[in-house]
Amino acid sequence: MITLNINGKDVQVDADPSTPILWALRDNLNMTGTKFGCGMALCGACTVHLGGQAIRSCVTPISAAEGQKITTIEAMESDKVGKAVQEAWVKIDVPQCGYCQSGQIMSATALLRTNKNPSDAEIDNAMAGNICRCGTYQRIRVAIKDAAKAIA
Ligand code: FES
Ligand code: FES
Repeated sequence: MITLNINGKDVQVDADPSTPILWALRDNLNMTGTKFGCGMALCGACTVHLGGQAIRSCVTPISAAEGQKITTIEAMESDKVGKAVQEAWVKIDVPQCGYCQSGQIMSATALLRTNKNPSDAEIDNAMAGNICRCGTYQRIRVAIKDAAKAIA
């Protein structure tokens, strides 16, 4: 058993310490908002926050999360920055198929926590690890700027 702090609550996970956070969330805890894309840290679909940083949960073992806070898409609605990002996503109508968007929102929220007014280059840099096969990058950029304004 490993104790993980997820979205502010301690939960017990009965899994090998090498289990990726992604699979502990999805398979052990039935939290399916975090998506599986590549499993190799190449697409960003599985992005969650660990200690406030955007990380790839498909390659990060639960052993690395002990004693730290994991935050997932399920908590964004009750997070000031995350909520502003989600509202901007709806307003700008960002998603197409939607599959990558949980990860996009987690990366965008991590960016806006540390940079309240990111430039296009800073957005592109922070979001570079999040691939969207539907090509929603332009709308993502607009929505991040919209969320930044709403937070300010
Ligand atoms: S599923 Fe983790 S980066 Fe693609
Ligand atoms: S909205 Fe379809 S992959 Fe991004």
